[in-house]
Amino acid sequence: MKESKKHISREIGLEIGHLLGKGILRLEHLHYGLWKKGLEPDLLNLHIAQDEYCKFVISHIPAEVKTILDVGCGAGAFSKQLIDLGYKVDCVCPTEYQNKLLEQRLGKSSEIFKCKFEDVQTDKKYDMVMFCESFQYIDLDRVLDVAASVVRQGGFLLICDFFKKFSPDLCGIKGGHKLDKFMSLLKQSPFEIIEDIDITDQTAVNLDILDRATKEVMIPVVDAAERFFKSRNPVVLKILKWKYRKKIAKAEQKYLKGNRAGKDFAEYKSYRLFICRKVK
Ligand SMILES: C[S@@+](CC[C@H](N)C(=O)[O-])C[C@H]1O[C@@H](n2cnc3c(N)ncnc32)[C@H](O)[C@@H]1O
Repeated sequence: MKESKKHISREIGLEIGHLLGKGILRLEHLHYGLWKKGLEPDLLNLHIAQDEYCKFVISHIPAEVKTILDVGCGAGAFSKQLIDLGYKVDCVCPTEYQNKLLEQRLGKSSEIFKCKFEDVQTDKKYDMVMFCESFQYIDLDRVLDVAASVVRQGGFLLICDFFKKFSPDLCGIKGGHKLDKFMSLLKQSPFEIIEDIDITDQTAVNLDILDRATKEVMIPVVDAAERFFKSRNPVVLKILKWKYRKKIAKAEQKYLKGNRAGKDFAEYKSYRLFICRKVK
């Protein structure tokens, strides 16, 4: 798929995810949940796990940080939480839909860069630039240079996101930059790691929940809809199934046989919190 088409479908996916998540499950965020021991792995608890993720990130923000650039801030729920805690927060968001929500939520208190992070132009220097599950969407060959240009000397880079551990990546969940490439680029950058925490196990639970919801809800619903359609328009259904046979086969492979459970995520991905300091 061409990059612009890929970008559009990703953005629409996030928009649908936000609408469904907020409307049905009261989710404010677009990131994974952090599942602490004792929290039942249930879709209805996802909002609690997402809040735990925010608390975890907040607890690792270095004490001297006062100003933050929240990159790929989604609809701004986390940014607002940080503002309420006393931080001065600006945001980067390339999506029209999310920008409207952001303006409503943050008002004039924050500058919103309505573009990709790669295209941000500013003279401002922040104490910290932060990527919560947005790092994987940004061009890895450029992200550290741009980050270095917007962080003050001695300031921080916070990344909470997942990476690919191996090539080939056989996990049915796409996404994540290659961890070894990131590590090698980081070594050549002005940033030095001061904290590196692996939260793969606490985040892999999200995949088990998603996998179960797909198998127990989405597939039976599609199956029932197909039987309904067949009872009304068997010929049309046959034609449609033939026309879209490749897409249907791909979806069956992905959702029924794809390696999309928590154990696959834990095998092929690494979800990390990195706090780095700009030392050069
Ligand atoms: C999974 S969401 C995470 C949203 C939010 N940080 C959160 O924790 O809920 C990824 C976000 O990255 C944004 N994004 C995608 N590509 C981007 C880019 N090149 N520059 C900045 N943000 C980008 C998307 O618009 C989306 O808001």
